[in-house]
Amino acid sequence: MSESLATVSYIGATILFILSLGGLSHPETSRRGNLYGMIGMTLAVLATIFGPRVSMAGIPWIVGAMLVGGSVGIYAARVVKMTEMPELVALMHSLVGLAACLVGFANYIDPVAAANLTHAEKAIHEVEIYIGILIGAVTFSGSIIAFGKLSGKIGGKPLLLPARHWLNLVGLLIIIYFGGQFLHAETVNAGMIPLIVMTVIALLFGIHMVMAIGGADMPVVVSMLNSYSGWAAAATGFMLNNDLLIVIGALVGSSGAILSYIMCRAMNRNFISVIAGGFGTGGGTVAAPSGDAQPAGEAVPVSAVETAELLREAKNVIIVPGYGMAVAQAQHTVYEITQYLREQGINVRFGIHPVAGRMPGHMNVLLAEARVPYDIVLEMDELNADFPDTDVAMVIGANDIVNPAAQDDPNSPIAGMPVLEVWKAKTSIVMKRSMASGYAGVDNPLFYKENNRMLFGDAKKMLEEVFVALKS
Ligand code: TAP
Repeated sequence: MSESLATVSYIGATILFILSLGGLSHPETSRRGNLYGMIGMTLAVLATIFGPRVSMAGIPWIVGAMLVGGSVGIYAARVVKMTEMPELVALMHSLVGLAACLVGFANYIDPVAAANLTHAEKAIHEVEIYIGILIGAVTFSGSIIAFGKLSGKIGGKPLLLPARHWLNLVGLLIIIYFGGQFLHAETVNAGMIPLIVMTVIALLFGIHMVMAIGGADMPVVVSMLNSYSGWAAAATGFMLNNDLLIVIGALVGSSGAILSYIMCRAMNRNFISVIAGGFGTGGGTVAAPSGDAQPAGEAVPVSAVETAELLREAKNVIIVPGYGMAVAQAQHTVYEITQYLREQGINVRFGIHPVAGRMPGHMNVLLAEARVPYDIVLEMDELNADFPDTDVAMVIGANDIVNPAAQDDPNSPIAGMPVLEVWKAKTSIVMKRSMASGYAGVDNPLFYKENNRMLFGDAKKMLEEVFVALKS
């Protein structure tokens, strides 16, 4: 393939990736967005393999690596449960970081990469390598820790070392100092030492940054590492002189940053302090309830038959799904109930919190899979004001996102996080297995409110019983 054909293919792939991102911004167009992304990626891979930079001798290596990587990817995608998706995504981000590190070292050692470069070009090339490895190492170790936290292998409690901000600052200064040493190194051997020292510090920084973040703040970390992985890919693009990687990396990096910003707003967190890795001081701590939100009274249990009765008498129903719906895989039964109620002339809508579940868009994906019509699936801001006019707010496996303590208790670890105000409905029904707390580990005063009922049990099983009762 000629250089110009490869360039045209790269431009085509870039356009497809932009269309893909646009498509993914709405559930209705997300399938199309995925398709554009797949075509774009195929085009990009083919143009790279058959482009002018890869010799015929290199093709079997690439094909072999693709077969191994592709098989692992297909296997992982087939066996992973929907609830384990965030962990998988974190692992994938770590691979992007690792790739950036390996490419950086390989590029530095490779005598061909630096041959025929002027003094200034060589300096720029080395800066690219240094920054590329730095971002890659932070992304790699940070993502591994995020994987550990999301999968429960590492506790969600933030690790707060004394003087941790100073530690970060000292680490940064050492990285800058060794950056100077690296650029002034006469030989590859001499440059290796500062490069390795920086890599170790960057790895420690990644671990420290994510360890310091509380469990309840993990949504921001997931999207932030997504952004870092984009910048790591862009850095790899600079090292390899590959325009497509630079553009795609920048697209992922900036869209991840925008998503982080949206997540921050959804959780009432400060974006700048998140980027600096210096947040989560109180987040995620398992705090005792305090202040006004002190749970008072008793939780009133309700049966599936009584729930069906309440639903049958309602005119307006809002369903609030959360992580428990994903665990129970209850979305199909939710759809059947929704369809039945709508046939009876009852107005049923869904209220989606931006951080419901364990990954951005988690609930939207599940509801789309169950074929719930998009027009009745609304964002939190779109229907929060409608709860006072709602007869039944049905909370399915959600907890933190409907916790009134976020509004009433300034000492709560989730204080200030916007929540779905289900308690303002005439009756709220919370469907979960026990009185256990949610991801943030805080008690929920909603359970003890006078107009709240608790339907205890696995969400799928209970919804099936409700459906049977509704039809009978
Ligand atoms: P949670 O607060 O985690 O509450 C989920 C509830 O579901 C639990 O209290 C659990 O109670 C119940 N549950 C679990 N399995 C169930 C089953 N089979 N049947 C019925 N109920 C079941 O979830 P949420 O309200 O969706 O809030 C999300 C939380 O995750 C937030 O704190 C958010 O910050 C965090 N987070 C979000 C993300 C993203 S990006 N969305 C990423 C990481 C963390 P029982 O054990 O009593 O059943």
